[in-house]
This record gives sequence, C-alpha cells and structure tokens, in this order.
Amino acid sequence: MKKKRRPKFTFIDLFAGIGGFHLALQELGGECVFVNEFDENARKTYEHNFRKTNPELFKSKKREPYFWKSIKDITLTDTGQSKTIWDKNIKRVIPKFDVLCAGFPCQPFSRIGQKRGFDDDRGTLFGDIERIILAKQPKVIFLENVRNIVNHDNKHTFQIILEKLDRAGYYVNEERDDSWNFLNASDFGLPTARPRFYLVAFKKGAPGAKEFKFPKPTSPGGTTLCKFFKDKKWPNKIGRTIRVGGRGSPVYKKRNGEWFVDKRSWDTYIVGGEKHVLTVGEMKTMMGFPADFDFPTTVTHTQMLKQLGNSVAINVIREIGREIIKFL
Ligand SMILES: C[S@@+](CC[C@H](N)C(=O)[O-])C[C@H]1O[C@@H](n2cnc3c(N)ncnc32)[C@H](O)[C@@H]1O
Repeated sequence: MKKKRRPKFTFIDLFAGIGGFHLALQELGGECVFVNEFDENARKTYEHNFRKTNPELFKSKKREPYFWKSIKDITLTDTGQSKTIWDKNIKRVIPKFDVLCAGFPCQPFSRIGQKRGFDDDRGTLFGDIERIILAKQPKVIFLENVRNIVNHDNKHTFQIILEKLDRAGYYVNEERDDSWNFLNASDFGLPTARPRFYLVAFKKGAPGAKEFKFPKPTSPGGTTLCKFFKDKKWPNKIGRTIRVGGRGSPVYKKRNGEWFVDKRSWDTYIVGGEKHVLTVGEMKTMMGFPADFDFPTTVTHTQMLKQLGNSVAINVIREIGREIIKFL
C-alpha cells in the first residue's frame, strides 16, 4: 500500500463555499481535515472536486456526518447550551489542526447582549468561529471578508472581532498592514477587481505573531484582461468584480452603432469589437481556478456564477498562505 505523505500543515475550511481556501492551501502542501458549508449546491461542487484529492475528508467518522452543514450544529450557538457542552461538542467533532480558514458572512453583533454584560453569540457567525477558536486553539487564524467589515455597524463589528481574538490569546494589531490588510486580486495576477479584507492572527508569543507580513503584489499595478488572456482583442483594462447575483447585466448599442457596456455590467465585455459574455471557464480562470476544477452536471449555470462570485481569489489566498507557512 502506498504510504500517505505527511502534510506540511493541516487546516479547516469553514463556510467553505466551493473550496477556494482548500485549493490554494492544498497546493502549498496543506491537508484539509474538516469542512462545513450549508448551501446544497456549493456542497455538490466542493465534494465533486475534492473527493478525488482528499478522500479522507469525505469518510464518515464514528457515524458522524463527514461534511458538516450549518456551523450552528457544531458550535450549538442557537441551543443555549452551557460552555461545557459546546466546548465538548466542538472538541469531539473537529480534529486537531493548525490553521483555521473562514470567509464568513459579515453580520452585526448584538449591542443589547453586550450592554447586559454577556456575549450574545446569536446572529453573528463570528461568534461561531470564536467558539471553535476557544475550543481548539489553532496556531493561526486566517479570515477573509468584504472590505466593509472594517466599517460595518459604525466600526463596532471589527472592534469586537479584534477584542475577541485578543481575549482568545491571539496577537492582533489594529493597524492596517500588520494583522489585517486589503488585497486586490488584480495585484496578484488575476484580471478582476476584487479588493478584499484579510486577517491573519497567530497565537501570542508564537513565531510569526509579530513577524508575519502580508505578501507584496505579484503583479503590482494590476492585471489587464488582454494581458491575462494573452490576446489584444480583450480590453486593456482590469475586469470588473465577478458578482454573486448570477444574472448578467445588459449591454447597449450606441446610436452610432457601437457597442457600449453599461457600468453595472460585470460579465460582458467588448472583445474584438463584438459583445462577449464571459463563459464559466473564463470566469473560473479569472478567479484563479485551474482548468481541471469543474462543476457537477447537477449544478445549474446560475448556481455556478453565484458560487464563483462568492469565492475567494485563489492567487491571493495562496500568496498569503505562503507567508503563513514560513512560521509553522
Ligand atoms: C463568502 S462565502 C465563502 C466562499 C468560500 N470561501 C469559497 O472560496 O468559495 C460564505 C459561505 O458561507 C455559507 N454559510 C452561511 N451561513 C452558514 C452557516 N450558518 N453554516 C454553514 N455555512 C454557512 C454560505 O452558504 C456561503 O457559501
């Protein structure tokens, strides 16, 4: 029997979508040991692609589900259970790992709960992540979100996240460029404007806590569509953000007979003088997915676009991952 190669590091993929974190960190020698995602269609795409490379992840252990759905089933935040119970549940369900990865939906924290002097976890998905951090104490926390998380709810959401990480024993600095940063996919070889918030926190006192640095752009100044597709017919511009909505937006014909693209249009370009709607394959490569990443036949076209619009930009995650593993 072929002996399994020891991974360089292990990670968990929370709110996994179609597995952008998985793809990038697997390439760096990491092994994903736990995944959760509750959207049925994203789950199909995820399993379709990663069962081949990581069959262990999809083996049922001790009659537990192998691919967990809602995070709440793991953290029990909606059940009112005591800390002893939720801590035990998380420890039982999630194996040991090094890096916690999560691109989570951003929601406000309850001010009422805080005014009353208790941590009200209900309604915020960061509260679920916090419980997993407290129970499992990973070496590193790697989060991705929209840029607005920093200003969300009058900066209250971000302040609480930093405070909670600090209290859980992780080094975080409020200053940009230190523990958190905004990085744009177009600065990392992808022809799409996708600026996102990234946070990396190591355990206090651990190597990397204060030394970690975000990667420098691999294509400073941006990546144009014509450069990326190596074809002068494409616009000499960075592409627009691939959107979650899943429905394309209109392209108009000017009176003089020339095509022009409405500002809101994200999936349509003028290529070689003709209107061109991005194919799923083009969108996939624009987000950094390899050619052999594919969608199961049971996932509709609209779902594919939604999944790609929700995904992380692979190149950015890979470059941040490279910086993280220097300290593992
Ligand atoms: C921004 S997307 C993450 C995308 C992912 N990082 C990727 O690369 O494809 C957030 C995901 O969280 C999932 N989600 C939201 N609430 C959830 C919950 N309570 N439990 C599990 N998944 C949840 C959504 O279905 C969505 O796929």
